[in-house]
Amino acid sequence: MPASPDNLEPVAKITVRDLTMAYGSFVVMRDLNFDVMEKDIFVIIGGSGCGKSTLMRHLIGLREPAKGTILYEGEEFSADTPAERGEFIERFGVMYQSGALWSSLTLAENIALPLEENTALAPAAIRELVSYKLALVGLSGYEEYYPSEISGGMKKRAGIARAMALDPDILFLDEPGAGLDPLSSRRLDDLILRLRDGLGSTVVIVTHELASIFAIANNSIFLDTTTRTQGATGNPTELRDHSDNPAVRDFLRRGEHESETPARHPS
Ligand SMILES: Nc1ncnc2c1ncn2[C@@H]1O[C@H](COP(=O)(O)OP(=O)(O)OP(=O)(O)O)[C@@H](O)[C@H]1O
Ligand SMILES: [Mg+2]
Repeated sequence: MPASPDNLEPVAKITVRDLTMAYGSFVVMRDLNFDVMEKDIFVIIGGSGCGKSTLMRHLIGLREPAKGTILYEGEEFSADTPAERGEFIERFGVMYQSGALWSSLTLAENIALPLEENTALAPAAIRELVSYKLALVGLSGYEEYYPSEISGGMKKRAGIARAMALDPDILFLDEPGAGLDPLSSRRLDDLILRLRDGLGSTVVIVTHELASIFAIANNSIFLDTTTRTQGATGNPTELRDHSDNPAVRDFLRRGEHESETPARHPS
């Protein structure tokens, strides 16, 4: 009997199995196992230095696993030849933790760069796309500004516009909200939700801001510095309320009394 759409197993966008990550003999994390599903807003959480940026580098193919596999839509990514891997990478948009804009280029030129390097679009078409991407992140009219002429929050949004330039299937963002005030940070959350809903992108994001995590993420992995492996994976709100791992609960409940989204305790 042919399978109906209802009983087809959804294929994970990213599947990570038994992943060990290392720099030389220094093992950062071992035995990571998790899935990122299509249209997830998937957050990588854990203490400073636990390996969040390292995990992102593995997911985008910048580093080889010391052990284990990474699959995209069921196809092995980590064992691909560079040419085959390139086809996947073209579908990624990335904002690195240190992801500065080019200071000598205007915002329009910064966002045009990936389009000029990766597409055969005519200059007029590129200009139009650049304006559209800037409008998406609320920066219409700032085309000719240089990074030094705009605020920190605007730079973050311009960085996201650049990561989105090629309409990525998966958007990777490493701490896009770091250093933003609560209002700018909330605007950034709204933007990420709109991108997921509007463009249908899957989003993998590194952040330690609890308000942001509970507002936007539906899936997560917690990297535990103490055990050097994953402490949990799943919906962060459920993990906060029900995880049997105290390290995970403590991380997600820190500063709870002053949080804007307190856990609901049974009274
Ligand atoms: N290129 C590198 N060579 C050797 N060790 C590295 C390298 N990059 C990171 N490390 C080490 O790997 C560990 C994880 O670093 P990583 O940057 O992934 O942590 P992180 O969770 O992103 O931290 P943060 O929250 O501070 O951004 C750290 O101990 C770090 O010193
Ligand atoms: Mg980092």
